[in-house]
Amino acid sequence: MCGIIGYIGKRNAVSVILEGLKRLEYRGYDSAGIAFFSDKGIEIRRCTGKIRELASMLESENPSSSTAIGHTRWATHGRPSEENAHPHRSNSIVLVHNGIIENYLDLKERMIEKGYEFKSETDTEVLCHLIEEYTKRYPFEQAVREALKEVKGSYALVIVKEDEPAKIVGARKDSPLVVGLGEGEFFLASDVPAFLNYSRNVIFLDDGEMAVLTYKGLMITEPDNTPARKDVKSVPWSLSMAEKGGYRHFMLKEIYEQPRAIGDTLRGRLYPERGAVNFDEFGFGIDELKKVKKIFIVACGTSYHAALTGKYMIEELARTPTEVDIASEFRYRRPLVKSGDLMIAITQSGETADTLAAQREAKRLGARILSICNVVGSTSSREADAVFYTHSGPEIGVASTKAFTAQIVALYLFAIGLGKTKGVISENISRELLKELLMLPGKVEKALAIDEDIRRIAEGFFKARGFLYLGRGINYPIALEGALKLKEISYIHAEGYPAGEMKHGPIALIDEELPVIVLAPMDNLHKKIISNIQEVKSRGGRVISITNDSDSEIFRTSDKCILVPNTNSYLTPVLMAIAVQLLAYYVGVLRGCDVDQPRNLAKSVTVE
Ligand code: AGP
Repeated sequence: MCGIIGYIGKRNAVSVILEGLKRLEYRGYDSAGIAFFSDKGIEIRRCTGKIRELASMLESENPSSSTAIGHTRWATHGRPSEENAHPHRSNSIVLVHNGIIENYLDLKERMIEKGYEFKSETDTEVLCHLIEEYTKRYPFEQAVREALKEVKGSYALVIVKEDEPAKIVGARKDSPLVVGLGEGEFFLASDVPAFLNYSRNVIFLDDGEMAVLTYKGLMITEPDNTPARKDVKSVPWSLSMAEKGGYRHFMLKEIYEQPRAIGDTLRGRLYPERGAVNFDEFGFGIDELKKVKKIFIVACGTSYHAALTGKYMIEELARTPTEVDIASEFRYRRPLVKSGDLMIAITQSGETADTLAAQREAKRLGARILSICNVVGSTSSREADAVFYTHSGPEIGVASTKAFTAQIVALYLFAIGLGKTKGVISENISRELLKELLMLPGKVEKALAIDEDIRRIAEGFFKARGFLYLGRGINYPIALEGALKLKEISYIHAEGYPAGEMKHGPIALIDEELPVIVLAPMDNLHKKIISNIQEVKSRGGRVISITNDSDSEIFRTSDKCILVPNTNSYLTPVLMAIAVQLLAYYVGVLRGCDVDQPRNLAKSVTVE
């Protein structure tokens, strides 16, 4: 997600902003920019690449100002480029934004009709023109308030107006914004590290609140414009902890970011009342989708496990044959790809060499390519015919967590959209499926409450020499994912296996030394999975079951039970994933491993 910062006070605002942006670099970004007041009015400098490039652009001018705003961009709409970098401007209004404007296309059309000229591909620019339009009828702050009443989506905004150099306005909805309080100086930022060097006294804004910063002081108002009563908090964190939002590791922070990552990924992409999926971004016409006879999905590692869940969803909801390959295997098996087939390449980074090679091979064989990717402007997204971005924000931890569940959500949306387009599922069915999806962020939030239980279970098992994960049906890929997560960050051998297949070999491994994690949701395979648990128990094995209902039989047969909320069978893997991610995390921490940067691993494997 983007980093935003604003400053007003006695220091040189330009250097405060540059330093603050450097402190936000950990959030991941592809371009940066700054706006500052000078005797020429508001000046803007932007560039792709790193903060140091922005700093060297300013070095020769060495500008000084008392009011400035800055931004590091993690692209969600529009490729990384200077014209898409923030700050954006419309006449007197200049602003930086973190979030996703859902209805930006409608607003953009209206602003173009009013004669505004757009210079970028971003959703953000529409906010500048909308606020500028309102300043014709209202004073600055009120114009912001009125404009935001028309905006759907998420935003943390820091805004300045050319003829009011001694003022900064901040507003937020579904995207964090925090005020820093100094001596005769104020900060606004998406995150505390941006100004932690200058102040530890902070006020966290809530949704709908607006902050107005001037030399004279700070005013925070409620959505109805009445003064808001806010507590000043003192942040005890070290800078490094602050970068992790108070979490010990990026991995744990990103596990906890999943409700928002899923919310941002589904935002603006479904019309629940109509049971419809918004395919605009998929980039394929409905008629083109109808003709798709076969689908190939390729990916690596954790993304491959998401791909496997996609097969279950697409074949059940759209009755379209779907083959899933590990990307590095795909092109060496002379795949029977025909022109008009669809390949879905799933890749968080968009730069994984094996996945890119598979995607190119499928394209050469005549397939249309859809990339499900988390990085705007990455190679996979640029070379595909269509892209569906998972808006999970930058994933810093090497072990993929929030990108994984966002990929499953993307595949779920795709399967419903394709199934409805092909007439396989009715509007009623798709409405039900989408309604359940809208509840998923809340259910993931609830699932995170198992953290303490998982930590205690990890304490009892972290010395084990190996783990076996068992799952059935659409949860079998989560058994694979749980095993991979554990291997990756705790260096313990672990294996994921279809529960029904265990008796054909791995059952020889069972003894009291080998913990067996069983994914046992209350679904149509529940009875089968119970008998698998009994097979393990009768050989002295120890079973940790993850289930989604207080089913007494599971509790009676398992040594430990983890309960996650109930949802439909297609989304159960997301809730099961929370449990296996937390288990791997705590085992890794208990074994003293570097869970954010595990040995031998890279975040993006750009070599074959
Ligand atoms: C996941 O935890 C691993 N870091 C790794 O398996 C990763 O999923 C794989 O390298 C694919 O990366 P991508 O999604 O960026 O293509």
